[in-house]
Amino acid sequence: MQWKGVIERYRSYLPISSETPIVTLNEGNTPLLFAEGLSEKIGLKVYLKYEGTNPTGSFKDRGMTLAVSKAIEDGAKIIMCASTGNTAASAAAFAARSRRLKCVVIIPDGYIALGKLAQAMAHGAQVIAIKGNFDDALRIVKEITDNYSVALVNSLNPYRIEGQKSAAFEICDVLLNAPEFHAIPVGNAGNITAYWKGYQEYKRLGKVRTKPKMLGFQAAGSAPIVQGQIIKKPETIATAIRIGNPASWKQAKEARDESGGLIDAVTDDEIIQAYKLLAAETGIFVEPASAASVAGILKLHGRGYFDQGHGDKIVCTLTGHGLKDPDTAIKNIQQPVVLNPDIKEILKEIGL
Ligand code: F0G
Repeated sequence: MQWKGVIERYRSYLPISSETPIVTLNEGNTPLLFAEGLSEKIGLKVYLKYEGTNPTGSFKDRGMTLAVSKAIEDGAKIIMCASTGNTAASAAAFAARSRRLKCVVIIPDGYIALGKLAQAMAHGAQVIAIKGNFDDALRIVKEITDNYSVALVNSLNPYRIEGQKSAAFEICDVLLNAPEFHAIPVGNAGNITAYWKGYQEYKRLGKVRTKPKMLGFQAAGSAPIVQGQIIKKPETIATAIRIGNPASWKQAKEARDESGGLIDAVTDDEIIQAYKLLAAETGIFVEPASAASVAGILKLHGRGYFDQGHGDKIVCTLTGHGLKDPDTAIKNIQQPVVLNPDIKEILKEIGL
């Protein structure tokens, strides 16, 4: 039977009625891949939840199907978001899919990856770049959506969280229980909130016996939750999580504390190392922010965090596709050699 998206699959767990007009791109149902090399390195069974295979190339589609469907049910004509890129791409695609919503996105000028900008533009969103960062953009979008008849589709919109929790359900449905640990990048903190909600609901309903420890990772130059203060000028190569004042800060701390997990920071160097390792050794190409979850577990392993956990399972969410950010890939990976169209020269280069 054809997969019909997260609303159809998890309808009974979602605030959907028979009246809700469903807008879907058949998102979700993403691969959960066992990572042999990482498992050997860390001494736990490491699984990668690869969200790059969603229709717009990131996890945002899970929440956007719900947020857009509910916006239409509630009579909205315009949706709006602030974004470091992926939310914008997803909102633009679902608005186009609905064939009736106008989509406006506000992005930090110069700090969104090329692929994401191309997506938002291709899907016909109105793209406004501001001379400011994501936090400035979100402040403006909140003010506009509070005062005008425009639906906010950032993760402050509870339907976004409801849709995104489906990723935790999918993991449990495959593993037939929750993993012992769940590692995830943290930016605006909606996704860690959504996963924790999903795991808690499955536990409450008796679908799983346990809940994971939630391990969140921010980029070191954009780590307000780790530092316990707003970061006025967040910086990181991982532009998706270049956020200094996360909207779901409180909920992220609750996920951390209720689960007995942690939220830590990883440097840009650690992120790039994990990014290259994933591409070269697991066959999965992610964008830099996504590699923060793997960088994080490698860091925790280095300080002996998992020493008691042999045999346990850990799932890392890989939030977005590597093709989103071609500039970072080309800057950080060996360039191609340029040769004459001469077979001898080429054979010599290959070493044959
Ligand atoms: N990874 C990627 C690829 C993202 O795009 C984001 C967030 C995150 C991780 C962090 O998730 O915000 O729920 O903690 N991107 C948002 C955007 C901010 O505008 O696309 P979070």
